[in-house]
Amino acid sequence: MAVGSFGVNETAVREWRHHADRLDEEFGGREILHCHLLTILTPAVTPGKLKACCSATHSKGTPMICRYEQPCVSPEEFLTGLADIMRGNQTDDGPCTACRYLVPTQMPEKFVPDSFSSVSLHDFCGCNSKCVYCHGSEYRLPVEYVASQDHEILFRSLLASGLLKPGATTVAWGGGEPSLVTTFDNTVDFLSSSGVSETINTSGIRFSPAIERALEARMATVRVSVDSGTNEIYEKVKRNPNCDAVWSAIERYAATGGDLVVKYIILSLNSDTAEVEAFVDRCVMAGVTRICISVDVRSVWEHHSNAPKLTDKELAAAAAIYNRAKANGIEPYFEEIWSPEHIESIGRLGGFGVGMVPESTVGPTAESRSGLLVRVLRRIKRAVSN
Ligand SMILES: C[S@@+](CC[C@H](N)C(=O)[O-])C[C@H]1O[C@@H](n2cnc3c(N)ncnc32)[C@H](O)[C@@H]1O
Ligand code: SF4
Ligand code: SF4
Repeated sequence: MAVGSFGVNETAVREWRHHADRLDEEFGGREILHCHLLTILTPAVTPGKLKACCSATHSKGTPMICRYEQPCVSPEEFLTGLADIMRGNQTDDGPCTACRYLVPTQMPEKFVPDSFSSVSLHDFCGCNSKCVYCHGSEYRLPVEYVASQDHEILFRSLLASGLLKPGATTVAWGGGEPSLVTTFDNTVDFLSSSGVSETINTSGIRFSPAIERALEARMATVRVSVDSGTNEIYEKVKRNPNCDAVWSAIERYAATGGDLVVKYIILSLNSDTAEVEAFVDRCVMAGVTRICISVDVRSVWEHHSNAPKLTDKELAAAAAIYNRAKANGIEPYFEEIWSPEHIESIGRLGGFGVGMVPESTVGPTAESRSGLLVRVLRRIKRAVSN
């Protein structure tokens, strides 16, 4: 179907604007504690719930916006839930309190957009990999969520209500392993042909012709996390025997010239310099042009896990990937999980210097810092008042 050929339901659009205006009236023009993700609208679809984001950095996890019954999203329930989160965030124990993205923000008079900037899918489970760092929720979901959803139904409904806008909304696939969802290839083709761009995170084990087509059509960013340079370490980190199949899929995806990112989640198991250098060399051979340097989130944030804490070895591995990628004409960037302090240390270890990592390659540094400051000030205030 051609871009823009969807009939938008004007009643749904008016209902959304009615509730959005009330939110604008309540918070518009005020300085509040706020997270930009709440404003740009990035709901995550999870079993039975729409959650606010996929980026929570605190142990409470991501706040729920509203209940969700496929395929409809109620404007009233969504915006009422959003208002509750925003109100709660002005207290000492709000749903986002302690997340590093909650920072003092001067709100514009009008800030509620008419459509979502992204919709991410986490309502399915099942995987063909068993990565050591994966929190494993994809194995714990109830059986009806095992890779059998038809997401096209949801997207048709969101397109009709104007909340999904071709050119303005990106659909992000999380999971579980999206390429195992039985309707995955059809949904990817549907979104591409509707003008909706996607970010597809995949294990890369199953080559997907629809992913290849979406890359060819420049409608998708595709991320494959390989986390190793050798088959031996691949098998230790990913706990499956399909390393060569993954590199072969990467090669075919890279040949499209589309936006393919190969990712390396650094952890103690894969942080030898020889391993990360072998990884960059394999990327060169496969024709990869972008590398995402990531890190095991459990060793960085308050996730109450037994994962080993980050050491200088992992930071040096990040620096080695960055330098070798640059030397080979590959564009490296750091995933937002890294803190600004880590990025500074990596720059120092890699000899590319503090402050020399381009802004666009790291997460929101100034925001994180002011968020930290707010939390420290709150703790001091609480200690004084006790
Ligand atoms: C849960 S996966 C689901 C999609 C797909 N199966 C994949 O692995 O790409 C979504 C993203 O989370 C990342 N991820 C999972 N566990 C992580 C961890 N402990 N630290 C950092 N990233 C992690 C994966 O690398 C992937 O990019
Ligand atoms: S502050 Fe954190 S938990 Fe709250 S919406 Fe933003 S990223 Fe998500
Ligand atoms: S491929 Fe993705 S979902 Fe599967 S175990 Fe690894 S991180 Fe988890």
